[in-house]
Amino acid sequence: MPLIKFIVVAGARPNFMKVASIMEAFSRQHAASDGFTCSLVHTGQHYGRSMSDDFFTELRMPQPDINLAVGSGSHAEQTARVMIAFEKECLAQRPDWVVVVGDVNSTLACSVTAKKLGIRVAHVEAGLRSRDMSMPEEINRLCTDAISDLLFTTDRQAGDNLRDEGIAAEKIEFVGNTMIDTLLRNLDRALATSLPEGLSENEYAVVTLHRPSNVDSPEQLGPILRTLQQISLRIPVVFPVHPRTRQQIESFGLRASVVEGIRLIPPLSYLPFIGLVARARMVLTDSGGIQEETTVLGVPCLTMRDNTERPITCSVGTNRLVGTDPARILQSAELALSLGSTKPQIPEKWDGQAGQRIVARLLDGHTFPG
Ligand code: UD1
Repeated sequence: MPLIKFIVVAGARPNFMKVASIMEAFSRQHAASDGFTCSLVHTGQHYGRSMSDDFFTELRMPQPDINLAVGSGSHAEQTARVMIAFEKECLAQRPDWVVVVGDVNSTLACSVTAKKLGIRVAHVEAGLRSRDMSMPEEINRLCTDAISDLLFTTDRQAGDNLRDEGIAAEKIEFVGNTMIDTLLRNLDRALATSLPEGLSENEYAVVTLHRPSNVDSPEQLGPILRTLQQISLRIPVVFPVHPRTRQQIESFGLRASVVEGIRLIPPLSYLPFIGLVARARMVLTDSGGIQEETTVLGVPCLTMRDNTERPITCSVGTNRLVGTDPARILQSAELALSLGSTKPQIPEKWDGQAGQRIVARLLDGHTFPG
């Protein structure tokens, strides 16, 4: 009986917690059967301690078998570098399946590369749609889903989106949310981390901001920072700054004039970040994954975007889309502060078992010796 070979791909910060759950499910399955192999390829899209290495240690993930070390660059440069390096890896390993997660450039690059080599592709977190083609992630999602052989979704609407695009129903499986698997598994450890000095539970707001549409021009970034500064007069604001945003704050000369009053700290690794968010009074963000994490944690989340690919976080969860207009952000922040936290309502199947469902389906139909 030939071994089935899987390659699981991780590229950027929001991939690591999703992959952690899948790798754990593979390793549990391995205890029962040795009919498959699974290697972890890190593309190196994100790198260094705070953006990559600490996640592997904290989440007790196996170290990547291969690191393609592609680093940063324009979208075309980065995507192309991943494709060139990943093709060599696929030719050397000859996997049966490549498993990609999320919507970053590495997701797109590895799925296209694998598919053109005749390797089957499974996409975890398929079917999310913001309908906003100015988001690079939306392009990555659409292209990856169009060519995937198995599409694992986090909610029912994602499945509807895929069927509307003509994807065959038998390729789609609603499994739940691997990012939430990892959150549930690590919440106690996250809550055991200490808060940055001077912050008290439920008495601060957390900010994250890194989307190109919000941070790549001074006309956008300046007013957002000034709005956050106004909020900081009301409640302490702590802002772990993504490297891209830090670069832009410096290059637009916004540091001295606008960020006084907001507490800028370096990017945090997984456990301190989840610990910070879980004990916050409110979160203001433009991230995708944080909308889901705050939903499960029951922390009010104001998303500084006009759309979301994760509408379930608004319909079921604690998320509100507030755009980037200063008056609207301020008004919504005021409302969130006065209402306080709400009882979390957990979306269907966000129960910590998504990784296991994924691996069960990937191995389904294969019989193994022993
Ligand atoms: C990427 C993802 C985005 C995700 C985000 C989370 C794409 C298209 N975007 O955006 O979906 O929400 O990650 O963080 O894949 N940099 C570092 N160290 C790093 C990585 C980046 O200093 O480890 C700096 C580099 O100067 C780089 C810039 O940050 O040019 C942006 O990084 P990049 O990976 O291009 O995109 P993100 O904005 O991180």
